Order: sequence, then C-alpha cells, then structure tokens
Amino acid sequence: MTWQRRCALDGDTQAAGIGFARVLRSGDIVLLSGLLGAGKTTFVKGVASGLGVQGLVTSPTFTVVREHDCDNDLGIATLHHCDVYRVRSLDEVVDLALGELVEESGVALVEWGDLAASVFGRDVLEVNFVVENDESRTLVVGGSVDASRADQLDSWSAS
Ligand SMILES: Nc1ncnc2c1ncn2[C@@H]1O[C@H](COP(=O)(O)OP(=O)(O)O)[C@@H](O)[C@H]1O
Ligand SMILES: [Mg+2]
Repeated sequence: MTWQRRCALDGDTQAAGIGFARVLRSGDIVLLSGLLGAGKTTFVKGVASGLGVQGLVTSPTFTVVREHDCDNDLGIATLHHCDVYRVRSLDEVVDLALGELVEESGVALVEWGDLAASVFGRDVLEVNFVVENDESRTLVVGGSVDASRADQLDSWSAS
C-alpha cells in the first residue's frame, strides 16, 4: 500500500513535511529517495518545523548527519537528518548506528536512503520524490505501515 501527495510548489512540499511530522513516532527511520533537486531537503525542513526544531536545517551532504533538538508533543526529542549520497561504502552507514540513535526518542530521515536500504532492513518508512516538471512533485509514501499509521497517512495524502 502506498500514499501519494501532489506538491505543485516547493511550499507544498514543506507543508507535506510539516504534516508528515504528525505521522512520525519515536524510533522511526525514513528513507527519502529521488533525484538531486527532487525536494528531499525541502521536505525535511518541513518535518523539522513540524517537530518544533528551532534554527536552520540545511543539507547534510558533506557532514553525512546533523542532529536537531525538537520541541513537540509527539515524544520525539531529536531529529537525525542524514544524507548518504557521498558515503563510499555501506560500512560508513552501518557505523552511523542510526537504529540505536533513534531508540533515544529520536527519528531519522535519510536522504538517498534507498542507496543504503540494505543497512536499514524492512522496518522503515519510505518517501519517494517523483519530479513531474520544474515545479511539481509527487510524494509517494510506503514501507512498514501499521493500521493506525495507515489512517494517519490517509488524512496526510488527502490534505
Ligand atoms: N514542488 C516542489 N517541491 C520541492 N522543491 C521544489 C518544488 N518545486 C521547485 N522546487 C525546487 O527544487 C529544489 C529542491 O531542492 P532540495 O529540496 O534541496 O532537493 P534534494 O534534497 O532532493 O536534492 C529547490 O530549489 C526548490 O525550490
Ligand atoms: Mg538534499
């Protein structure tokens, strides 16, 4: 099962991220896939805003991972924002130990996460960013979704 949301402008992709924050739970790992410029970082900025992150969220392309303190009523204290585009081996991704990091009231959003999907196993959420044209994107969500989250994603895709 997958959920789609059309984002005609970059502001829509941010809004989709803000709404997606309400779908997240502590411990989640979310793999973001899509071409360069598809809107992955834009979406993470929205999620960060929805999680109550203060301060600037920029692409962690060269640092691989950035951590942001959150302030929300979702029980999520830390956003781990990763970009694995430049890692040279999957061992580098294993060494990040994201699975352990998110156990401490965290969530991880991983840009280019599809390139390292084997490291994360099956228990992940996936968001694929499909570029329709210069401005329009379709976000496709799938992965490990239980019934209550499916309800939340129904509303997310309808808004
Ligand atoms: N609907 C849209 N959603 C997201 N970004 C868009 C959209 N339309 C245009 N853009 C532009 O595309 C670029 C997306 O960049 P970014 O979010 O950094 O992508 P990625 O992290 O996937 O490489 C930005 O310059 C943004 O302004
Ligand atoms: Mg990016």
